[in-house]
Amino acid sequence: MHRPIAGDWVQLSTVMTKPASYDNPSVLKGEFLEEYSSDDSLRRYTKETAGNGISYLLDHDYGEIYFGVIENQIPKSRVQKGIRLWEFGCGAGMNLIHLVSSLERRGVAVQYALGTDFSEALISAAKQQAQRYLTPEQNRKVRFCVASHENLIEETTKGLEVPAETLLGSFDVMVGVNTIRYCHRLKNENDVAATIASLLADRGVCIVIDMNDKFPAFRSRFRDRLAKEAEAYYLPSLEEYARPFSSAGLQILKREHFCWIPHSAGAGLTTAMRALTPVLNTIAPSRAMRSLVISQKSERRP
Ligand SMILES: C[S@@+](CC[C@H](N)C(=O)[O-])C[C@H]1O[C@@H](n2cnc3c(N)ncnc32)[C@H](O)[C@@H]1O
Repeated sequence: MHRPIAGDWVQLSTVMTKPASYDNPSVLKGEFLEEYSSDDSLRRYTKETAGNGISYLLDHDYGEIYFGVIENQIPKSRVQKGIRLWEFGCGAGMNLIHLVSSLERRGVAVQYALGTDFSEALISAAKQQAQRYLTPEQNRKVRFCVASHENLIEETTKGLEVPAETLLGSFDVMVGVNTIRYCHRLKNENDVAATIASLLADRGVCIVIDMNDKFPAFRSRFRDRLAKEAEAYYLPSLEEYARPFSSAGLQILKREHFCWIPHSAGAGLTTAMRALTPVLNTIAPSRAMRSLVISQKSERRP
């Protein structure tokens, strides 16, 4: 039997200590930033160490969503000129880098692709990953820049040294994976959705994928419940994920729960969950791991 030793108690008391008040959102944001500047975050969000699950999802469940949107929603004339992409909260760029290379493999041109995140450590990793996984030609079209959701336009214009007008109304697809929940925790989701709407081109689409509050078994939720205040691990409902985008004037094209494969799953668990997916989708669709909201900006009348 494991006997507690002095070090165990020190560790336990650290975990059990709840942090100071979050009345000031910048305290909470500072804590999120600290988490996403750690070595552990670098491991979780870079391709080589993130897990088999996310590689599978990028080629399948997530990939199908991205390609479905580009094929069915983005004007053909635009697709011919080249898609303009932005991943906000991109971490080490896994989604964006994968999307750029698979779009080009399928013969869909990319005009430019931008990844932003408030973590300098993750953005610097994203730049290295792009050098590693994209061709020099693709790299010329891809930029990563440190920018927080709260000041997305200001910090991106500063980081890229371009005027705001070159960004506004200029993106065909904006993607946020497992990042928009932080805006809900900081209670700035409406402002962030309005900013995203202003960056989308006419008929541009925003795809948000995030944790489903109804999925009962996220390991991080158990851990966070012990150590954090409720607002630090709050998860929005599907309705709450969608509302800021409809309030910002976007049309909700899809709102649903999906996906039973954890990003960090190894090869065995990925295979097992793929096999179980049809059954789970039949018996408990609202309990799937992710919430998906796809919203679109309407075309301006001439
Ligand atoms: C769970 S990770 C997901 C990373 C990436 N989207 C992926 O799927 O690999 C959440 C990301 O959101 C970023 N993030 C959280 N709050 C943010 C904020 N206020 N502004 C910008 N980025 C933020 C974190 O730095 C982190 O990279």
